[in-house]
Amino acid sequence: NIPYNPKEEHTLVLIKPDGYARGLIGEVISRIEKRGFKIIGLKITIPTQEELEEHYFEHKDKHFFNSLCEYMSSGPIVAMVVEGSRVVQSFRNMMGDTNPALALPGTIRGDLARDWGPDRGVENIVHGSDSPQSADREIALWFPEMVD
Ligand code: PPS
Repeated sequence: NIPYNPKEEHTLVLIKPDGYARGLIGEVISRIEKRGFKIIGLKITIPTQEELEEHYFEHKDKHFFNSLCEYMSSGPIVAMVVEGSRVVQSFRNMMGDTNPALALPGTIRGDLARDWGPDRGVENIVHGSDSPQSADREIALWFPEMVD
């Protein structure tokens, strides 16, 4: 393991099943690296229901929670810990709007994601932590060995 330096800012990035299936791992990683951020943790996994309930605990009561879990457990994902100055907000900007139809060109979703349709549910390629506090919680969930 690369040492986790708590003095640096980190974010938790997931490349979701649609990103994995469409061969976009390299594209997403390339954008992160070109922006100057450092990847210090990386794994491929198929999320369990328990992991998703923990990861998305804030959305447990939302109408879309079940379809979100179904989508997220439909295939492999890539989980990454990314380090750099103000990386949480920067990566949120790089992702673009949650809804691909609203995501601006130049963003990952605006360039690569398709509009949500009835058949495709909520595919939007990537997840990034929404605050440094969420990042700490999500990193502990997906990379317990890193922060122990
Ligand atoms: S909210 O309601 O504003 O808190 O939701 P938001 O932060 O935009 O999204 C939370 C995560 O849920 C996903 N999402 C959805 N999934 C399924 N159906 C619908 N309608 C939907 N809306 C939002 C969204 O992609 C967020 O997941 P992450 O992985 O954080 O991007």
